[in-house]
Amino acid sequence: MTDAARRPRVLSGIAATGTLHIGNYIGALSVWAKEQDAYDNYFMIADLHALTIPENVYADDLRARIREIVALYVACGLDPQRSVIFRQSDVSAHATLAWILGCATPVGWLERMTQYKSKSEGVSASAGLFTYPALQAADILLYQAEYVPVGDDQRQHVEITRDIAQRFHHLFGDVFTLPQPLIRDSGARIMGLDDPSVKMSKSLAGLRDGHAIGLLDSPKTIHRSVMRAVTDSGSQLDPEHISPGVKNLLVLFETLTGFSREATLAKFAGQGYGALKREVAEVAVEKVTEIQAGYRSIREEDTAIDRILASGAQLAGDVANTTLDAAMRATGLR
Ligand code: TYM
Repeated sequence: MTDAARRPRVLSGIAATGTLHIGNYIGALSVWAKEQDAYDNYFMIADLHALTIPENVYADDLRARIREIVALYVACGLDPQRSVIFRQSDVSAHATLAWILGCATPVGWLERMTQYKSKSEGVSASAGLFTYPALQAADILLYQAEYVPVGDDQRQHVEITRDIAQRFHHLFGDVFTLPQPLIRDSGARIMGLDDPSVKMSKSLAGLRDGHAIGLLDSPKTIHRSVMRAVTDSGSQLDPEHISPGVKNLLVLFETLTGFSREATLAKFAGQGYGALKREVAEVAVEKVTEIQAGYRSIREEDTAIDRILASGAQLAGDVANTTLDAAMRATGLR
């Protein structure tokens, strides 16, 4: 048994639906990268999930985005030697197990998912958007993952994964490890710069200038977005009255620098919001510049991406197919 195989396993992923932003970095990627030596790591590019809103899919875009995300994974610190990086659709066990789990999932559970409720509002939603939690459960359960490092918005998905696994066990017998979410205390929900009442999201980033800090944005764009960030009618930092917009800026500063809340408040006490914004813009530009340097060097040798995906497909496939086989035996399909 290798060292990595003795460690608890983690599985996580990012849907290939738009350009990654600093919320994805702080809530997910930075945690995955930092903890790589503590776990046996599986990180995927969730391309099947990108099809849940087919109106937003353009084949060439999706192909390009998948490569962009692989390069960003590496640029954000994932080491292909220590983490298995793979594309979800390369491992067909995901779709097969999603079907089996979907048949063990009561419709009422899917109807309660907040993501389905918000994304299906006012549109004719696809069946895929509705059954998405069964696919995500398959993603996690195939790898027998003990932990799922995610941002706060994914908590409900990990909870339903546990429920689906338990229902499967009740119906067919034990096959899966019950996963737990791994969610950081601060920074697990970065809010929109233009509207601190909604979480920073890839879809809104594509629609509204100034909503997000994109990992591939220019320093000028980042400065502009942060300086325009919504705060409140006050002008100075008042530790007794911290509005959602100001809190979001504090959290960005703290998670990017490692400053505690106390130290941050001491640093900016009595200063105007402009000073806080300038510092946030500066540390964000510094981080993003570093990520972009890594990103460019990977993209210069684009065949490296093919090698990462080929090896990831093999390693992930081995683990996933073993679990799928056990699930198929339990149900009588084998
Ligand atoms: P996605 O692609 O929306 O987000 C990827 C990761 O980034 C986190 N995140 C955030 N964290 C902090 N602040 C934010 N504003 C913010 N926005 C996003 C998310 O919580 C997530 O960790 N369905 C998933 C992808 C997925 C997956 C999985 C995740 C598919 N299969 C299996 C874990 C395990 C999604 O759409 O995440």
